[in-house]
Amino acid sequence: MNGELAFPEPKTVDEAASILRAGGLCAFPTETVYGLGADATNADAVLSIYETKGRPRFNPLIIHCADLAMAETLAVFSPAARKVAALWPGPLTLVLPARPGNGLADVATAGLDTVAIRIPDHPVALELLRAVGRPLAAPSANPSGRLSPTTAYQVRLGFAGRVPVLDGGPCRAGVESTIIRVEGDRLIQLRSGAMARADIELALGAVVELAEKDAAIAAPGMLLSHYAPEALMRLDTEPRDGEAYLAFGAAAAFEGPVRNLSPSGDLKEAARNLFAMLHELDAEGRKVIAVAPIPDEGLGEAINDRLQRAAAPRG
Ligand code: TXA
Ligand code: MG
Repeated sequence: MNGELAFPEPKTVDEAASILRAGGLCAFPTETVYGLGADATNADAVLSIYETKGRPRFNPLIIHCADLAMAETLAVFSPAARKVAALWPGPLTLVLPARPGNGLADVATAGLDTVAIRIPDHPVALELLRAVGRPLAAPSANPSGRLSPTTAYQVRLGFAGRVPVLDGGPCRAGVESTIIRVEGDRLIQLRSGAMARADIELALGAVVELAEKDAAIAAPGMLLSHYAPEALMRLDTEPRDGEAYLAFGAAAAFEGPVRNLSPSGDLKEAARNLFAMLHELDAEGRKVIAVAPIPDEGLGEAINDRLQRAAAPRG
């Protein structure tokens, strides 16, 4: 992906900020995955996110804020919401009632009366948000339904060099943010993610409920087949001849192509490696990927969620 870009790649935060302020798209790093950013107050800019990703318009975007003051202009924070927001900055998105007249483009929230907000914990993302001075709508920077990118290279590959990317190195969490809807005093997890549910419960001394699988309340974007690599996936299993193997922990010897998410069995390392290794196996043209069992605790919840979506029948 070199020498064929239709524009100069932004080299600095200020260059990326001017693209965004002028209504352009620019991908940027966060601690979870790369986001495809646009000025969330500019309807045309936000529309081009949906076009570029091929994303259905009914699927609202996460709005990224520089700080709590910016977030409070967009949503109404109850005392319960304020407590959870104390975990910001971080890989946590809160779904809150939208503040009327908040200036967000309707398309950014798909016309809902709630808004999904987060303050990312990444120095480049925060510097960019401050430089733009406006909230940024940013879904993961991949064509809709494909794997999320954890490096600038994967963003360029995914969009064939059609969007400028501010390169901030590889993402340290590697899976998307955890999404929690605050409803009265209840905390309902709509998507598992890089902040483990058990850690949130521990930090807040509160229970985080799981959204019912088919509840209308669930995040509209949680389609069953998602995050899909080209290869077919077989989960919780050992590899057969001719397959690639995505291992975890101490793995038995295998002759074929192997990636180990974490030889030491560390779920944080596994989350960080998940999309990157699936991207690699895809790039090598693997047809079937057998995946070792991953413990369903802590970050394993998010890893297994993404693996199940990647393995789901394709529509
Ligand atoms: O880590 C992340 O969250 C990354 C980085 C870039 O911040 N972003 C990300 O965005 O994963 P995206 O668009 O791929 O996922 C956003 C999810 C979708 O499932 C969407 O349906 C849900 O958030 N969502 C957005 N607004 C919502 C709302 N008001 N109520 C419920 N779900 C909402
Ligand atoms: Mg996404």
